[in-house]
Amino acid sequence: MRRLLTAALLALAAPAAAQPVAPAVPVALAEYQARRDSLAARLGDGVVVAFGAREPVAIHQSFRQLPGFAYLTSFAEPDAVLVLRLRGGRATGSVFVQVPDARYQLYVGIPADSAAVARETGLARRDVAALRPALDSLARAGVPFHVIRDVGSGDAAGRDTVTLGASFVRDLQRAHPALVVRDAAPALDRLRARKSPAELALLRRAIAATDSAHAAALRAVRPGAVERQVQGAIEAAFVQHGAEGPSFASIVGSGPNATTLHYMRNDRTMRAGEVVVMDVGASFGGYAADVTRTVPVSGRFTPEQRAVYQIVRDAQTAAERAAKVGAPWAAAQAAADSVVARGLARLGLIEGPDAEFDAPWAAQCAASARLCKQFALFLPHGLGHGIGLEVHDPAMYYYDDRTLRDGDVFTIEPGVYVNPDVLKLLPDTPRNRALLARVRPAVERYANTGVRIEDDFLVTTRGLERLSRAPREADEIEAAMARVRGVVP
Ligand code: GLY
Ligand code: MN
Ligand code: MN
Repeated sequence: MRRLLTAALLALAAPAAAQPVAPAVPVALAEYQARRDSLAARLGDGVVVAFGAREPVAIHQSFRQLPGFAYLTSFAEPDAVLVLRLRGGRATGSVFVQVPDARYQLYVGIPADSAAVARETGLARRDVAALRPALDSLARAGVPFHVIRDVGSGDAAGRDTVTLGASFVRDLQRAHPALVVRDAAPALDRLRARKSPAELALLRRAIAATDSAHAAALRAVRPGAVERQVQGAIEAAFVQHGAEGPSFASIVGSGPNATTLHYMRNDRTMRAGEVVVMDVGASFGGYAADVTRTVPVSGRFTPEQRAVYQIVRDAQTAAERAAKVGAPWAAAQAAADSVVARGLARLGLIEGPDAEFDAPWAAQCAASARLCKQFALFLPHGLGHGIGLEVHDPAMYYYDDRTLRDGDVFTIEPGVYVNPDVLKLLPDTPRNRALLARVRPAVERYANTGVRIEDDFLVTTRGLERLSRAPREADEIEAAMARVRGVVP
């Protein structure tokens, strides 16, 4: 009887055969045109020059359009430059593209012709050889240029001086010293931050595919599994649920790797008694989900892991309560920080919720006092970020008064990472010596417990909606793991 029951449960838990999935409803051409016109309304008359992603220089790598470019046009060939002429709140323009030579087209496909591009994007297709003469002529006309640079992520924009776009614009400025060149990213980011119904629908599909992938991961996690085997199960589930694949490099970190925020090697064999952090997100119609679950490799949390887990879950709940339309994002961050700080003090990992330390990054503490609180040794990142075409997408609360706006879509992702090596970073000062003497036993006790819990949310005047639904309570995770293993309680 018991064997039969186990077999039945295992059958229930078996990976589903590939099911037909509803295709993504693409963003309509009219919406792209409206986005370009909205940019024109914000920037005033002038020219927009937006650089697309380059053809990868390594052989046989997949191509992914840059998010700013993708927001303005669905055009997805490499090495394209979009030029828009903005007049009276309307944008018209062209994509300039390198036409691959005839024989290479046999390898990479024959590109859409001008008529198809016009039909599909509302833009003229022109040869890249005509780009510089066209821009020279516009520069001579004395109109300002608004540039969208070819950086892969807003996170990297501040450091860029070397991209093709940056050097192209430098050349142009040298040739036209009076040319006014402005960064269009702030205006574009504000537009991208406000999600349309079509974008929200794609985000929901990305998140649903990611929930399914977390269910698949629970079947793949076990002592002896290599992290990338779990990654494979997750990414296979993305595709089975209609997604293109991962929207960012999947993080599957077990044991000590659970404490490295952006661990991506995924090559370690996991062991019983450890936890594994799985921070993953499907890309669906180009839109990124971002959901993290932390689960015990053996299926049951140890008391120490459960204690840390509950602090993180409580911090997430506290942030969710504070996340309301009109509320400052900083209030949600402070709510989560406070729960983590009190929890870590209770476990003896820090001297007190408000205790500070002498930080090796003291200069940065002027900008953010939390960085020099002891709790930030174990929670070094912020509370969350917008999601959209990029996994770190603009959200309206980034702007102006830093409050949450109706329609913001974002993550809430507190964590606690007990990495004993963090203590080695501390400068040798009297205050740090006292801190080390007090917390070392607790750090050893909780060592290598890394927990992050990340969900995706939509806030509206009706309240906060949790869009990701994968099990997240410690008990729910243990029960789900027991079910898929056919363990009868
Ligand atoms: N997956 C990256 C992040 O959570 O921000
Ligand atoms: Mn995230
Ligand atoms: Mn994440």
